[in-house]
Amino acid sequence: METKNVLVALDVGTTKVCTVIAAESAEGFQILGVGSHPSHGLKKGSVVNIDKTVQSIKASIDEAKVMAGIDDLHDATVGIAGNHIFCFNSSGVVPCKGKEITAADVDRVIEAAKAVLIPSDREVLHVIPQEFKVDNTSGIKDPVGMCGTRLEVYVHIVTGKTPLIQNLIKCVEQAGLRPNQIILQPIASSRSVLTSEEKELGVALIDIGGGTTDLAVWKDGALVHSQIIPLGGNHFTNDLAVALKIPHNEAERIKIQNGIVLPEQADPRVHVSVQGLTGTRAKEVPLTAVAEVLGARAEELFTVVKDIIADKNLATLITGGYVITGGGAMIRGLADLAEYTLEKPAKIGYPRPIGGIGNVMQDPKFSTVLGLLLDSTQQENSIQVRSHKSDSADESDFMGRIGSSFKNVFKDLF
Ligand SMILES: Nc1ncnc2c1ncn2[C@@H]1O[C@H](COP(=O)(O)OP(=O)(O)OP(=O)(O)O)[C@@H](O)[C@H]1O
Ligand SMILES: [Mg+2]
Repeated sequence: METKNVLVALDVGTTKVCTVIAAESAEGFQILGVGSHPSHGLKKGSVVNIDKTVQSIKASIDEAKVMAGIDDLHDATVGIAGNHIFCFNSSGVVPCKGKEITAADVDRVIEAAKAVLIPSDREVLHVIPQEFKVDNTSGIKDPVGMCGTRLEVYVHIVTGKTPLIQNLIKCVEQAGLRPNQIILQPIASSRSVLTSEEKELGVALIDIGGGTTDLAVWKDGALVHSQIIPLGGNHFTNDLAVALKIPHNEAERIKIQNGIVLPEQADPRVHVSVQGLTGTRAKEVPLTAVAEVLGARAEELFTVVKDIIADKNLATLITGGYVITGGGAMIRGLADLAEYTLEKPAKIGYPRPIGGIGNVMQDPKFSTVLGLLLDSTQQENSIQVRSHKSDSADESDFMGRIGSSFKNVFKDLF
């Protein structure tokens, strides 16, 4: 009987909740089930209605369970965003007593870097080492085993508001899963979309979701900046609805079917048929008018990104340019407009193929959930099942492992 790790990734987005169930074995990943359900209950990436969010999560999980033919799931790796997220860089330094730097020294120096004043309503979600410095040698990725007397670390710290983190945890738990790992969404998207070469060279990932646009800037293989911008695809749709005086769902349809952000790339002869309020006659709108509305919003979004990059002095680090992902990246002309506004090369980022499910998941809207899945493999305590069913011995062993796993994962949170 083959033993497989069954992993669950859960992306609770503003427009959709996506669940991926995968089996990890010696041969690699196999995606067993996918569930994607419209999300109700979130605003700008944060939970605003517990019941509606729970229902959306449940529906997404159930869909994935049916496809996978698995009923007993326990843990999930969950993504988090929302404009309550605040990230900053910090550093720490410790003296090293022994001849060689040990893993314990590394833990100590990371603890020292964490010792910054964080407001009482915030929790630390991630402390991500950027580089270590041993005595006067900088740029070290792994200092264990090196000789030195002084160990320094530079870290990127991600924090979020405790009540909002707890709301997300509560929703996932009420939907029947344990969130054993919580990962910032743009970190997850970077994992599935960016290559190590790109992260080494220096790139900025822009994940345009429904409610937020998430930014992650990488240089020398390390995360140097991350930020959640409270502007997303929904704003593009709203603009179109207001400008064309049409209902939101009709604006969404036009955006997805005919959306374009560069008026000069839109054929001036093409007109789009739009339906106003029920009972009114459909009207023909030039495609260039659609492009002007969407283009103005896209330009505003990229200008916000540009201002952040300038404010944080990151422009010189982004040698490789911008990689745009998330469902909102699919509007025609977006990469060209980004290149023009941000004055660096830009491209649309697709998640790389994993799990043998073919092209279905090769969509920028699945970048986050696939990144969460890739990150969930780093968990020591994924669910162990035999042929997709736990026997009682496995069950008690599993419960034991959950205990320590849960404490470890949440020691930063609570
Ligand atoms: N083909 C398409 N063309 C244009 N826009 C699209 C397309 N497909 C999806 N979108 C837009 O992408 C957005 C949703 O993206 P995504 O699924 O990445 O968001 P989310 O993860 O639910 O939200 P968030 O990350 O903000 O919480 C919506 O605004 C939707 O209109
Ligand atoms: Mg998203």
